Amino acid sequence: MAEQQTDPSVGRESNAAVLSAYDDHMMPIWKSLDVPVKRASGCTLEDFEGNEYLDVFSGISVVNVGHGNDAVVDAAKDQLDEFVHGCSYVHPNEPVADLAERIAEVTPGDLQKSFFCNSGTEAVEGAVKLARKYTGSKEVIALEMGFHGRTLGSLALTGNKAYKKGMAPTLNDVAHTAPPYGYRCPRCDGDQCDADCAEELERIIGSHTSGDLAAVVVEPVMGEAGIIVPPAGWLERVQEIAHDHGALLIADEVQTGYGRTGELFASSHFDVEPDILTQAKGIANGLPLGAFTASAEVADAFESGDHLSTFGGNPVACAAALATIDELQDGIVDNASQQGAWLESELQTLEDEYDVVGQTRGLGLMHGVELVDPSETGPQNVAPKPDKDLASAVSEYLREESNVVMGVGGYYKNVMRFQPPLTISRDQLERAVDELEAALETVA
Ligand SMILES: Cc1ncc(COP(=O)(O)O)c(C=O)c1O
Repeated sequence: MAEQQTDPSVGRESNAAVLSAYDDHMMPIWKSLDVPVKRASGCTLEDFEGNEYLDVFSGISVVNVGHGNDAVVDAAKDQLDEFVHGCSYVHPNEPVADLAERIAEVTPGDLQKSFFCNSGTEAVEGAVKLARKYTGSKEVIALEMGFHGRTLGSLALTGNKAYKKGMAPTLNDVAHTAPPYGYRCPRCDGDQCDADCAEELERIIGSHTSGDLAAVVVEPVMGEAGIIVPPAGWLERVQEIAHDHGALLIADEVQTGYGRTGELFASSHFDVEPDILTQAKGIANGLPLGAFTASAEVADAFESGDHLSTFGGNPVACAAALATIDELQDGIVDNASQQGAWLESELQTLEDEYDVVGQTRGLGLMHGVELVDPSETGPQNVAPKPDKDLASAVSEYLREESNVVMGVGGYYKNVMRFQPPLTISRDQLERAVDELEAALETVA
């Protein structure tokens, strides 16, 4: 047996002590943000040496109503005092009943019945099972560059080999169609990307499936791909094509849901009512919870025993989710929408002024800044070459010099991500934009 290196009863007093335990006893994982967190409040993270950081990333777009939100913390504590676990599928309980009812009220269209699980990837896989059960078909189409999780089922839908290296084979019967990535659209050369680009889906159904299509799975705004907002009419056309082939539209709102885009759900920005809607991340402000929600007609395709999760619908997480929705509806979604409109115009100014800023785009408080090398053409010759080295240098500068934590993402790893807690104030957002500009001035 390995010798015990540290006494776990003694608090760690430095960032290095935490990182060294990670190195020794955690599986080697992605940790590029390098800011160990001792405590957090609102939009502020504090490390083990008392340094404070402005959090513009929300733990990958999760703490939508702010770190340590009092109402959420109190709701969770109250439920902890009542009981923690009884398995919500064998012991019906009030937090689950209340949350299911509430989700039916706040989701778009006539989505009425939910299944609760623990994470986004489970929500996506459960939604695909339900679509298969309802349609009686098997095949699934997702978007190239899309992200839906890392367990083997959702990994099959994830359209990016970076997440799949060494992990294949995944689920069979998944094909991918082109994403609505206007800036680098191979179909229309960028500028004119519109609803017609969705026609690619017909070609993929015709050439890459047997026609036995159960679902098309789409993020209404693509998160990990680089904050990609589809052009007007695109998502609507995707749903029409899916329905023409007897398939359901699964809107994966794991990242876009719960106020992130300035609406409670991003589907509401478009003229679509998803057939199944997946949720996780912001749903309980950081407590582990996922869900997928469908109309009664679709949901009732599941029969007893078709699906279950021991921890799914944990009462503490559900109580936190109910408080999160209250908080969101009490002005926080409105704040996301207002601050997001301001952010959009500020980022547009950066795009106009800096030729390394290829494109800025987003909705609400989900915005991306795509960094490029203007001296070279990109992979499809429609936009300059993505500059992932610049993005990682900017992120490091922000962390080291400005105490700002900003995510980097995108299929080409060259997109700076503004996804702060939706409670962020104008002053804090202004600071993040100013510091990004300072980083571009210094590093670019
Ligand atoms: C759109 C989308 N779907 C699914 C997932 C997977 O969620 P989780 O990490 O909770 O499994 C993510 C995570 O980033 C996501 O952004």
